Amino acid sequence: MTTITFEPVKPHIGSRVHVDKARLCEPEVVQAVRDAMEQRGVLVFPELHLTDAEQLAFTDAFGQRLNYTSAAIEDSAKRDEATDVYKIALGKGATLAPEFVYATWFWHTDGVTVDQPLPKATMLSARKLSPTGGQTEFANTFAAWSFLPDAEQAAIADLKVIHRLEAAMRHVFREIPEDRLARFRQAPEMVVPLVWTQPDGRQSLVLGSHADEVIGMSYVAGRSLIERLIEWAAQPEFAYSHDWREGDFVIWNNHGVMHRVVPYDEESGRNMHRTSIMGDLRLGRPVEVLATA
Ligand SMILES: [Fe+2]
Repeated sequence: MTTITFEPVKPHIGSRVHVDKARLCEPEVVQAVRDAMEQRGVLVFPELHLTDAEQLAFTDAFGQRLNYTSAAIEDSAKRDEATDVYKIALGKGATLAPEFVYATWFWHTDGVTVDQPLPKATMLSARKLSPTGGQTEFANTFAAWSFLPDAEQAAIADLKVIHRLEAAMRHVFREIPEDRLARFRQAPEMVVPLVWTQPDGRQSLVLGSHADEVIGMSYVAGRSLIERLIEWAAQPEFAYSHDWREGDFVIWNNHGVMHRVVPYDEESGRNMHRTSIMGDLRLGRPVEVLATA
């Protein structure tokens, strides 16, 4: 009997995975999921209904669990295991301040504006849905690069982009309040290659609302380039929109997929439980580190 089967969703992105959740942490299942995620970018496990403990067990079997917040706490004994599962929600019970949740309504890559190896994978369980909106959209940035015309590839191959949390937040606020702005500016400005050549030789575009400024171009020309590349990457051929059902479990390769959420009813209590997998590649460097190097 086959333990796990994969069913493609679209030619360039996405597979549905069928597996008995009791077998999810078996080493050969985990390896098959890792391989499929590399190939397909996004994997959907329909209505798996994982508990937090089950999701953490799979997260730990898959790689090294990453908690953006607890990583800053030096004493590991003080880390609260429960916080390793982020409640992505607005209002009561949410792990993050609302502006960080609203920022997910725009194309982004997780963790680019944190000075750490780029998180490898993100995992979400749908706990409560909104009656309207809330689909998560994914775009394959390997495909976006490889289908660019040769001349456009050559023109952008060596560019570097400054990513800023502040840039992502400009989409959320008409005017960023002073206290928030000061806080956002504490995040490092990360210099990241626009085209990322990964260890297996594949190349992806690193894009998102946090991509602010192209080094060596005027601000406006750089912004235009970034916007056009995001539109290119998000074209339907490279993208998949996941219409959630309660209990769905979705994982994606944060090294080759950007994502966003379709706006939803803010009073709905929509709640997604997120875990993350640490990456092993430090893609960017803070601006000030480069300046003093
Ligand atoms: Fe995200």
